[in-house]
Amino acid sequence: MKIVIVGPGALGSLIAALLTKTKEDIWLLDKDEARAALLERKGLRLEGLASMEAKVNASADPKEIGAADLVILCVKSYDTKKAMTLARPLVPERGAVLTLQNGIGNIEIANEVMGEERVIGGVTIVGATLVDTGVVRYTGKGETVIGKIDGSITVELRTIRELFIRAGLQTRISRDIKGALWSKLVINAGINALTALTRLPNGKLLDYEGTRTVMRQAVTEAVKVAKRKRIKLTYDDPLSKVEAVCEATAGNISSMLQDVLKKRRTEIDAINAVIVRHGQESGIPVPVNTLLVELVKTIESSYGAAVS
Ligand code: PAF
Repeated sequence: MKIVIVGPGALGSLIAALLTKTKEDIWLLDKDEARAALLERKGLRLEGLASMEAKVNASADPKEIGAADLVILCVKSYDTKKAMTLARPLVPERGAVLTLQNGIGNIEIANEVMGEERVIGGVTIVGATLVDTGVVRYTGKGETVIGKIDGSITVELRTIRELFIRAGLQTRISRDIKGALWSKLVINAGINALTALTRLPNGKLLDYEGTRTVMRQAVTEAVKVAKRKRIKLTYDDPLSKVEAVCEATAGNISSMLQDVLKKRRTEIDAINAVIVRHGQESGIPVPVNTLLVELVKTIESSYGAAVS
């Protein structure tokens, strides 16, 4: 099976390295030619919960990779359209696209480019920090959930689940992937912006009264919005779940904090801003998520002006 992971960030590199354990034909597609060449030469290295080195094929040219059975999107949510357009030739007539990205909206964009029947949604709650190109610290193990938006259980889904399990990723299929995506959204809404603002690793958010209070408020708003949209979350006690993820990924620098430390754009538009938009549409007050969005957006647009 040829599997192409698009985006060699923390999650993409982790998934690619773990998938090499399956002995399938694993490729990384990177828009950056020089970095792809480096990854091909150096390979991938995992530290932390898994310690391994992996040789991997990497390219910036879909033609060099050829037709794939599965494309896994691990790019930032604001790059989904570009990444899908780049990866489109890899799956000309057959082959599936699985999105494992944070936030809401990625499936819809992938559907636009590929057509709904080829797209699989996914969420993964792993903690991964990119230490250097191709070097990932694996800091938290969590469940991966995959599913089709129409709820059907296909042979493809079963194949991907088996593949991920062989790679060491605890994986299950869901008939309600929308519920799984919103369940991850609530987790990200409670963790990511707070880590970006305080510069704390996930676990430390639980050590301070202030971060605990804001987390509780952000999560409460997000859950109210999800309920109004009749989304069924995959857990009964959302705040306990968010806290459990903080504990399970305690040493992790969240993806949003990694972005801020690298002075890059964050995924705030696909996370807390989604809660704000849906909250406003349905008349649910979302002041805490609004504040988190405003502050993270200010950080994003003021890297040059910030005192270090
Ligand atoms: O975005 C992230 O960093 C991750 O989704 C998670 C689970 C919050 C762990 O840091």
